[in-house]
Amino acid sequence: MPKKLAVFEPSGLRIKIDASNTILDAARELGLQISSECAGRGICGKCFVTVEPAANPSEADITHLSEIDRLRGIRLACQHELQTDTRVVIPQAAQAKILMGGTASSMEWNIDQDLTGQKGIAIDLGTTTIVAYLLDMENGIQIGQAASLNPQIIYGEDVMSRIAHAQKEEEGKRTLKDIVLRKLDELIKDLASSANISFQEITRLSIVGNPAMHHLLLGLDTHSLGRSPYEPVIRDALNLKSEGMGLTTARDASAYFAPNIAGFVGGDTAAFILSQRLDMTDQIVLGIDIGTNGEIVLSVRGDLFCCSAAAGSAFEGATIKHGMRGQEGAIEHVSIPNPDEAPKIYVIGNVVPRGLCGSAIVDIVAQLKASGIVEVGGQMQGSTRVVETDEGRAYLITDPDENGADRRIVFTQKDVRQVQLAKGAILAGASILMESAGIGVSDIDMLLLAGAFGTYIDPRNALAIGLLPPIDQERVIPVGNAAGEGAKRLLLSTRERTLIEKVVKKTNYLELARYENFDKIFVRSTLLEAKMPL
Ligand code: FES
Repeated sequence: MPKKLAVFEPSGLRIKIDASNTILDAARELGLQISSECAGRGICGKCFVTVEPAANPSEADITHLSEIDRLRGIRLACQHELQTDTRVVIPQAAQAKILMGGTASSMEWNIDQDLTGQKGIAIDLGTTTIVAYLLDMENGIQIGQAASLNPQIIYGEDVMSRIAHAQKEEEGKRTLKDIVLRKLDELIKDLASSANISFQEITRLSIVGNPAMHHLLLGLDTHSLGRSPYEPVIRDALNLKSEGMGLTTARDASAYFAPNIAGFVGGDTAAFILSQRLDMTDQIVLGIDIGTNGEIVLSVRGDLFCCSAAAGSAFEGATIKHGMRGQEGAIEHVSIPNPDEAPKIYVIGNVVPRGLCGSAIVDIVAQLKASGIVEVGGQMQGSTRVVETDEGRAYLITDPDENGADRRIVFTQKDVRQVQLAKGAILAGASILMESAGIGVSDIDMLLLAGAFGTYIDPRNALAIGLLPPIDQERVIPVGNAAGEGAKRLLLSTRERTLIEKVVKKTNYLELARYENFDKIFVRSTLLEAKMPL
């Protein structure tokens, strides 16, 4: 019987299972909850999920689901076998742990005057998550925040799969635009209702995102983003009427889109630069935002260099056998004091462990390396807790009788390779930026880690495996959702907008793939050691 892949959102958990199994069976196998009052007989109509691709509706689908829901890809999980690789969104599931807070430079900010009585919403539109902040524009105080997974995730984890979907299907571009617009409407509605304000009071929006998110939201052609030399259709900042964009809430607000820097470096990186005042620092600062695409910025006393590193989604758990996003049930940290005994695990929500999120993945590789079970080159050696699986060698994190687990969770040799590729991309990018700017590791005053992954990882372990350039741990500073902080400044200040637009034009972008010896540098960067590849 052929096996098919089912990927569940928002957890990101995945399973390869016989095609004769239903979506409900696959979810149960992973320990995921889907309401199923009639135990899969197609009677209760409670097991609805959104699937991509969506098979033809069954009779039970037609009985229990509206036509609009069926058109949206909603199906009853118990009624559909996994005839093909499928992505499934469970609507009732606990939301992923989404990082909302961030820190910004303590330098003084310009805030527009004459905004009495007005409210604004700053939006960080990420590939995986969307975070929206409601601000009182009179004083810049935040009065609400809301977050969600980016609903486009059903069309792929990374920007390239979204771009491919936008180009492949006739309606692809429209679908991706509409689905994210409706999510933004929902977030705006939630914020307005919690703060008890009307849509008319919301006069401004600011939106920062990578170029693919920017283009897909605006319904722009994405062909040039998907092929070399990877150019955005629009680089400059935009100021649009919300209604013209297609929002049905806050229609009269003006929506400011931060400028794109290059094909894979967008307004979110511009906002990161702004929030940390990297253009004005008198120090040498390296900034890294590790997501499915890693953005790296180097400021040499205000002169800016940046690049994008294709880190892939290993740190989001997506290419890891038992990987998942950081949400309830994810093991977020692992401690291996004795590699022959069961590791200590720390599970989000203190519940039954379901899988491994990015921070745990870094802990595991660093500690297996320290104990000699994984070599510098990534090879896994035999040991008491190294077991054979259908994917080769694997280190046993938990068995059903350990740590309150109800299933075996392992970290495979293949997973080590995925981490090597991801960390190799980041380290190679940072090294090339530094070399281009004539900077050595000892010159770096600060390394700022932006984003959720950078906030939750243990920097000691990230440094030990060479995910980051080998600098003193005290100089590594997590700054949280720095792009969101930048979006708030862009919401509040016309002067900061003008400033960042000038800064973006002066930022030196490096296309890594075109860099001489990139392949060699990348291969050296995949070694699990605290050493620069150059
Ligand atoms: S479990 Fe009742 S309809 Fe699917």
